[in-house]
Amino acid sequence: MAEIRESKAAVQTSEAQIAVHWREEEYFYPSSKFVGQANLSDPGVNERFSENNFPECFREYADMLSWDKYWHTTLDTNDPPFWKWFVGGKLNASYNCIDRHLEKYKNKAALIFVPEPEQEATVAVTYQELYVRVNEMAALLREFAGLKAGDRVTIHMPMIPELPITMLACARLGVIHSVVFGGFSGEACGRRIADSGSRILITADSYYRSGKMIDHKANAQIALDIAKQEGQPVDKVLVWRRYRGQYGSKAPMIEGRDYFVDDELLKFSGRIIEPVSMDAEAPLFLMYTSGSTGKPKGCQHRTGGYLAYVTGTSKYLQDIHPTDVYWCMADIGWITGHSYIVYGPLALAATTVLYEGVPTFPDAGRVWRIAERLNVNIFHTSPTAIRQLRKAGPDEPAKYKYHFKHMTTVGEPIEPEVWRWYHDVVGKGEAVIVDTWWQTETGGFLCTTKPAIDPMKPGSAGPGAPGIYPTVFDENNEDVKAGSGKAGNICIRNPWPGIMQTIWGDRDRFVDQYYRKYCKDSKSKEWHDWPYFAADGAVLAADGYLRILGRVDDVINVAGHRLGTKEIESACLTLPEIAEAAVVPVVDDIKGRIPEVYVSLVPGIQPSQEIADKVTKTIETIIGKIARPRKVHIVPDMPKTRSGKLMRRVLAAISNNLSTGDITTLANPDIVESVREMVQGKESVVVKDGPDDLKQFGGVE
Ligand code: WT7
Repeated sequence: MAEIRESKAAVQTSEAQIAVHWREEEYFYPSSKFVGQANLSDPGVNERFSENNFPECFREYADMLSWDKYWHTTLDTNDPPFWKWFVGGKLNASYNCIDRHLEKYKNKAALIFVPEPEQEATVAVTYQELYVRVNEMAALLREFAGLKAGDRVTIHMPMIPELPITMLACARLGVIHSVVFGGFSGEACGRRIADSGSRILITADSYYRSGKMIDHKANAQIALDIAKQEGQPVDKVLVWRRYRGQYGSKAPMIEGRDYFVDDELLKFSGRIIEPVSMDAEAPLFLMYTSGSTGKPKGCQHRTGGYLAYVTGTSKYLQDIHPTDVYWCMADIGWITGHSYIVYGPLALAATTVLYEGVPTFPDAGRVWRIAERLNVNIFHTSPTAIRQLRKAGPDEPAKYKYHFKHMTTVGEPIEPEVWRWYHDVVGKGEAVIVDTWWQTETGGFLCTTKPAIDPMKPGSAGPGAPGIYPTVFDENNEDVKAGSGKAGNICIRNPWPGIMQTIWGDRDRFVDQYYRKYCKDSKSKEWHDWPYFAADGAVLAADGYLRILGRVDDVINVAGHRLGTKEIESACLTLPEIAEAAVVPVVDDIKGRIPEVYVSLVPGIQPSQEIADKVTKTIETIIGKIARPRKVHIVPDMPKTRSGKLMRRVLAAISNNLSTGDITTLANPDIVESVREMVQGKESVVVKDGPDDLKQFGGVE
């Protein structure tokens, strides 16, 4: 232990704990201008959503929706941990996102689509136009595709307006949509078709990415072949075209199977379809997510509870008003896009922006030009995108006259250095920031500050969201005390309306994965006995703020000390020369694992041994010699998934001379070979198999 630098937060750690060496950050406060206009500025919310008022507190969210029939039981705990919310209630999600806004807002933009080619005009879809298009599509789905409530349909589409239109058309009929991220391969799509039992695939011909037209329809054949192999035949493939009447793919259209949606829609012109009144507990959609092991899990989200939760959190925590122009730069193919591009903002009658392409295309100013042109005032993105934008053009935001009142960060822990750039440069010191921690499984935000009420603390997600009671457990089921500086497993003690219902078709896996570990009594019908296990490490500060360390399996065990990779990466980022950092474990005979560091540099800085030495020195200073990396590799870019997550698994494979596995779904597969050559040299011996923890490391599909 003597090796660990003495610091306020440094504590003794055992094998079961993650060493924590963060220093406390100072608070930042929202401006009075922001507070004055905020949806939620009454601190009475803490009492209203306190445990005394649980579960009835969540009526406040459900009452933001229009119900066909009001519910009789707010929370039913008869079959734990399969909670039921707003039981007896009936509603339709597409009605709530469209029809009910027509009276006041029919001529207001619901969606603004920004094509990647900058010379192509943006497209504003008003609420009235959205109503017409969703109805026509619903008619097509019912009458041409033969879909009805409860059927599943797989949607494999890029970021074009037809994607939310298709989702809302499904919701109108009670058809369960399963959107597969457009950047996923045909194979990945096929496995999800099979698991969900979809008979219909909805896809698109092509889209733009980094200036290139991508042939997307080509994936459909692969998807169908895989689905068939797994026992699920598909009857029809519905193909949206990026440009009406113009087919942008080389893949053949198979007669009797493939149909152009724009052609077929002509037959349903002007048709209006009554929204189907669905039970609050009817599934609204499936969203697949990969665990660190096993096949992807179909997270099944319910209609009433989910919609109430994303609407309430969008209103209170994202501060969305109908007059706001809101831009979440995620892809709709992820849960962030479902909850916080489509369902939450549209339920609140906001204007939501869809951007087709790459944030830095054609240059580092693109995002800020879009913000300026559309007068975006709420911005939502991930730390990876923030780091990327900072790397590509640290001074770009100042050149554009946009003003954000509110910004969100989501998806990974954000390093305080990066947070400050987001705050000072992107937010121009004016915007409030929420760091929202949650998961595909949880439907909506779990930990975040309330933007007009709680101060911000860089690097910390904050306290539980209203009605969410988080806690940090150690391996012995004991609460880790606030302010102890020790890390543990973050759990949510109570159910909430946004939590998934189950894993599609696999109730046992649902219980095993999320509830087995900390269940106090498997016979109990009391929610108190069933904490939700999120599989993330976290530290609870004395002020009740949670700092998320990342997945519990993203740790490097050096000589019996578990080091959070994020913590080492964060140390690297305190150096102004470093743009991005990724830390991976390499096998060491003596210490078990040693960290190895990959960094990329900010523009204008040349790679040198001096910088590599500085990185090592900084890690030693901030964390201790125990975390000293075996090597520091300065690379031009990092392998990333299409959703922007750093692929540590690929770097770990390179560092350990293991096979990198399937890298075809990466955003930048080419970088892998050049990094491999840098690290291993031209000739290298690749071993097929390595220790299990390396295979799983940082495992994202
Ligand atoms: C995992 C969930 C949340 C929707 C998008 C990703 C990490 C998420 C934060 C945050 C630190 C975060 C966690 C979580 N994560 N948000 N604000 N700070 N870590 O959804 O793909 O299901 O990933 O992302 O590790 O478990 P997902």
